Amino acid sequence: MKKLKTSHETLLILDYGSQFTRLIARRTRELGVYSLIIPGDSSLEKIRGYEPKAIILSGGPASVYDPGAPQLPKGLLEYQEQAGIPLLGICYGMQLIVHELGGKVHPAKVREYGRETVVGRASKAARSWKTLFSKKQTVWMSHGDEIDTLPKGWTCIANSNSKARSPAALVGPAQRMALQFHPEVTHTEHGEKILRHFLFRVAKMKADWTMKSVSKEQIELIRTQVEAANVQGHVLCALSGGVDSAVAAALVHRAIGDRLHCVFVDHGLLRFNERARVMELFEKKLKLSVTCVDASQRFLTKLAGVTDPEQKRKIIGAEFIAVFDAEAAKLSQKLGKPIDFLVQGTLYPDVIESSPAVSAAAGGPASKFAVTIKSHHNVGGLPKDMKFKLIEPLRELFKDEVRALGAQLGVPKEFLKRHPFPGPGLAVRVLGAVDPRVLEILRQADEIFISMLIEEKLYDKIWQAFAVFLPIRTVGVQGDGRTHDHVVALRAVTSRDGMTADSFFFAPDFLARVAARICNEVKGVSRVVLDVSSKPPATIEWE
Ligand code: XMP
Repeated sequence: MKKLKTSHETLLILDYGSQFTRLIARRTRELGVYSLIIPGDSSLEKIRGYEPKAIILSGGPASVYDPGAPQLPKGLLEYQEQAGIPLLGICYGMQLIVHELGGKVHPAKVREYGRETVVGRASKAARSWKTLFSKKQTVWMSHGDEIDTLPKGWTCIANSNSKARSPAALVGPAQRMALQFHPEVTHTEHGEKILRHFLFRVAKMKADWTMKSVSKEQIELIRTQVEAANVQGHVLCALSGGVDSAVAAALVHRAIGDRLHCVFVDHGLLRFNERARVMELFEKKLKLSVTCVDASQRFLTKLAGVTDPEQKRKIIGAEFIAVFDAEAAKLSQKLGKPIDFLVQGTLYPDVIESSPAVSAAAGGPASKFAVTIKSHHNVGGLPKDMKFKLIEPLRELFKDEVRALGAQLGVPKEFLKRHPFPGPGLAVRVLGAVDPRVLEILRQADEIFISMLIEEKLYDKIWQAFAVFLPIRTVGVQGDGRTHDHVVALRAVTSRDGMTADSFFFAPDFLARVAARICNEVKGVSRVVLDVSSKPPATIEWE
């Protein structure tokens, strides 16, 4: 991963496989510091290349004595000491520093998982941390090993309350410090204060990571990129109707104006009125020049009779590339010039590298792509054989930062808050074969559900909600007659990033009202059911 040409000071986070590593990056960015995650076994040369102003070692599931356990990069501590770069080790990161410096780590008799109390010591060394550790405080622990003997010159400034001998916070010489608990987890009472202390008092970093500065920097970077290759460089962007591609396009538009050409492909699998809503946003609010291609017929013909979810995704992916390719060729002909660049809305979580060794120690597969659960198709995804250079202005950002950047660029709030929508659209929400009739049923049912969530102020409490069409018929009674109609399932989940999810629980009367409206207003539906499964074991989408 290349370093962003940034004027921001960098906090490097070395990842040892903790489930909380990304939280460290998010929390520190929320505090205005530009942080980057790299694998814990990165070379010293790579680390130096980032010119870090401070370094954090994450937690991780391994034990420092395990064969093959991730270790500190060779020479890290010498470099850190010589360059005077403050270092904070968290949990496994703490144990690594202690182990490397000749202290002892051993398996704890009583492991600590979850909420614990720590108590500060009244020592001289603890003075600079006094306000943070003078009292008992709640912290989040998650460890099986603990420190037995401290390295020379290190002092314990706080202990775990439940096990008086177990050090919870240490300071060492050469601006090194270590915590057994997780300051990045919100359950840690003074976690934010502790991170602030490390970043701003110890490392003296500047809080200069704001979306205003990111936007300014990216606009300049895009201009340089496009103009370096070709003074009249033209850029293409596939809009999916989602937040990421819209914010990426808005940013590129600020940088190069009308040399950005957007394409929105209607694959016939969009939600109720979606094409009109999205086009209005792009053209009227964001003033982007967008070609809308109605390719619904083409997609639906290819999908006719296909019931296998993976096959549906593959067809949609291939069709999308074909349509997009044809549009790019048309556009280039019209301009009389080639299109040089393609905008992609890639986000930071997609580019965080994970080392196979660290991933294996975390109990994960050696490669994050080892098992295909679903082959995700992103509308706007990169056609592999296209000859474009890439512009990825969001590749350093988390989703919440993209939303903040979008707001900065004038993208309306309602749009930024929209739930995610999968690239293959309603095709993965119609179980079995897709056809215009069932798509219409699903559109109507989904619109009723979503509009009621908005009206009743539930929409923003939910990460993603939608209706699913089930291709089974059940018996019902409507008016004086018997019906034999379809079933619609409702799905609503809370989640942080879509990797895991919990079912959102509604008040029974809300569900009864949604079900009644769907059965009464949508012809062809006589029953509504609710999906209450979490992810895992289920996934968010049904296909
Ligand atoms: P699952 O169903 O895997 O979904 O739990 C997790 C998140 O990913 C979205 N999703 C997709 N997005 N192309 C996409 O662009 C896809 O093929 C796809 N499949 C699922 C899903 O809506 C949820 O937000």
